[in-house]
Amino acid sequence: MKAKMTLAGEFKIGEIDKRIYGSFIEHLGRAVYGGIFEPGHPAADENGFRTDVIDLVKKLNVPLVRYPGGNFVSGYNWEDGVGPVESRPKRLDLAWGTTEPNTFGTNEFMKWCKKANTQCMMAVNLGTRGADEARNFVEYCNHKGGSAWSDLRISHGVKEPHNIKLWCLGNEMDGRWQMGAKTATEYGRLALEASKLMKWTDPSIETVLCGSSSRNSPTFGSWEAESLDIAYDSIDYVSLHQYYENRAGDTPSFLAKTLELDEFIYSVICTCDYVKAKKRSKKTVNLSFDEWNVWYHSDNAPYERWSLAPPRLEDIYNFEDALLIGSMLITLLRHCDRIKIACLAQLVNVIAPIFTQTGGGVFEQTIYYPFMHISNYGRGKALLPLLDCPKYDCKEFTDVPFLEAIATHDEENGEMAIFCVNKSLDESSVLEVNLMDFAGYRPVEFISMDGYDKKAENYFNAVKVVPHDNPLPVLDGSTLTAELKPFSWNVIRLRQSKTN
Ligand code: AHR
Repeated sequence: MKAKMTLAGEFKIGEIDKRIYGSFIEHLGRAVYGGIFEPGHPAADENGFRTDVIDLVKKLNVPLVRYPGGNFVSGYNWEDGVGPVESRPKRLDLAWGTTEPNTFGTNEFMKWCKKANTQCMMAVNLGTRGADEARNFVEYCNHKGGSAWSDLRISHGVKEPHNIKLWCLGNEMDGRWQMGAKTATEYGRLALEASKLMKWTDPSIETVLCGSSSRNSPTFGSWEAESLDIAYDSIDYVSLHQYYENRAGDTPSFLAKTLELDEFIYSVICTCDYVKAKKRSKKTVNLSFDEWNVWYHSDNAPYERWSLAPPRLEDIYNFEDALLIGSMLITLLRHCDRIKIACLAQLVNVIAPIFTQTGGGVFEQTIYYPFMHISNYGRGKALLPLLDCPKYDCKEFTDVPFLEAIATHDEENGEMAIFCVNKSLDESSVLEVNLMDFAGYRPVEFISMDGYDKKAENYFNAVKVVPHDNPLPVLDGSTLTAELKPFSWNVIRLRQSKTN
């Protein structure tokens, strides 16, 4: 098949907020215990942090990590996770049916963030708790000292405030599975008051209102409109969550899910702007897509109830998942004028790109690579390419473009990148790119992932689904020609030619 792309500086969507490449660590399964934290492991540092995991997190270049949940946060007492470890209580975690030992908490996580070169996006419990505990938590974390909670932090050996700038107002509060689930009105009132007190405690913070737990939630749309109507002036972002699955084994429909994702994002933007219009407000509420991924491989895996850090949600990803992850990232970037934050859920072991063996090794899942490429090379501004390519019909969608693509331009370092998924199972695509006003750019690298069975997976000591380099695309004048293999993930990097 043949495809044509045109790129120009004027096709700018927006500046990419680097927080769009965030991820998520929840006290769930082996994400913390046996994942990022495993005292006694041969690769653990003096804090018990696994350095083999930190190395892989650093390569992913994740600027933000949401913590500590997720469903877990809706029953969490943050006070349980600070102070001398020997006096911290063990608690039943009703969200996941396990026992939380609390040997890892806020101060440990903040230390881990420093080591992993990342920032924390903290969530407060608005399920079983309220505005009072939330504002106390902000005081504990961010106040310099001279008040009860900030002095408590100092007495815990943390002299300098953590200065956490981004706070989630609970998690999926519309979900019936959530501890302390609420109606939109109940939640809107609580979020408004909690955010108000948290910001009075530290005016430099930003807060995220919980949107629906997914587009399929029965109250999706009205939940956003009603809760925003109440809390609009006090919050900065509204959250979106979405996971996809391919239980039906219908790959063309699975890869076409980004059409639905696109609509989902668009409808949340419209809802925010509807409330803005209604209020004649000058303020724009942006989007925090703080949970997204593929999730279904591990459904119904048995575990021992009330055990400590049992394996949960340990999806092993395959090649087609990697292609959807690449396509989802492209879709998020297509809305980077409004999506300022996004978190791949999650980071280690629990539906994650990094997978460890407790006491053993670690490996990169298939989905690790597209995320790593976009996060490292997709900086600066996003450009919406004009794309002319054949389309396909499948069970769930019609007119699905075979190619999903975006370009980015980083003016500072004179680099561009084109990210493109070829969704055709059997046809390669000759892509002709008209570089227009980027004619002074030349290709410097062409990376792809292709040639694998759609169900191919990676595993310990068997990381087979990996990217590889290709001969550079041909540049003829301002036309770049590249062959995109069938069923492939592609990254074409360009650099500005030096002129003198
Ligand atoms: O990421 C796993 C879970 O998915 C989170 O705890 C919850 O917020 C969502 O339902």
